[in-house]
Amino acid sequence: MRVTLCFGGSILAPDLPDVDCIRETARVLRELKARRHELLVVVGGGRTARRYIGAARELKATHAYCDTIGIDATRLNARLLIAALGELAELNPITTFDGATRAMLRGKIPVMGGTVPGHTTDAVAAGLADASRSDLLVFFTDVDGVYTADPKLDPSAKKFEAMTSRQLLELVAGVKMKPGVTAIIDPIGAKIIDRSGIKTLVLGRQEVHRLQKILGGAGHSGTTVVPRERRGRGS
Ligand code: UTP
Repeated sequence: MRVTLCFGGSILAPDLPDVDCIRETARVLRELKARRHELLVVVGGGRTARRYIGAARELKATHAYCDTIGIDATRLNARLLIAALGELAELNPITTFDGATRAMLRGKIPVMGGTVPGHTTDAVAAGLADASRSDLLVFFTDVDGVYTADPKLDPSAKKFEAMTSRQLLELVAGVKMKPGVTAIIDPIGAKIIDRSGIKTLVLGRQEVHRLQKILGGAGHSGTTVVPRERRGRGS
């Protein structure tokens, strides 16, 4: 199966880099690769991105400049996963969908951070899944699925076991896109998921080690985003 995986910075580097988690993630990726899955990976910037964006904002940097700093942070985290993957990955974070797809076809695991200002790595992962014709897109976040509201702010929020991509889009449509934005999936990413018709899973960090089973069809504790209408590849 061809799978695009997005690891939030909040998982791999919640405050400082979590070396054990990065090592475990690389182990899981290596195992999946050995089982002939084709993998493409995107890494988020987490708190490092937000801290640097916050500082740049205080220094009156433009939105675009703050975004660029955020992208730098995502690539910094991407480099740590690349270090853990060794020869399975390219030496540097890949910056284009084409480059990532070509690396995957060469048998590598391409690791991307962000690309251009104006969105988060959620949109990068959704775009990469579309561009690479992935069968599945998986987000690992510090929240274990999609909730009716942010469960950190609203204890009565309920988790969706399954939802359509249109429901996801409606849920996040009101989120304002500013540097360092926090939403379970950013609205641009949700829009790409909706139009591409790619099946998507939103999972918590505790599911990373179960990924192989989940790809094999086992249940999970997160949210399945079901394509509104399954469109053929390339349509
Ligand atoms: P992240 O992708 O890390 O945000 O991008 P996130 O998904 O909310 O965070 P985690 O890692 O899952 O916790 C951080 C910031 O970097 C800029 C944006 O400002 C974004 O908010 N960014 C990132 C871009 O401008 N373009 C990109 O392609 C990626």
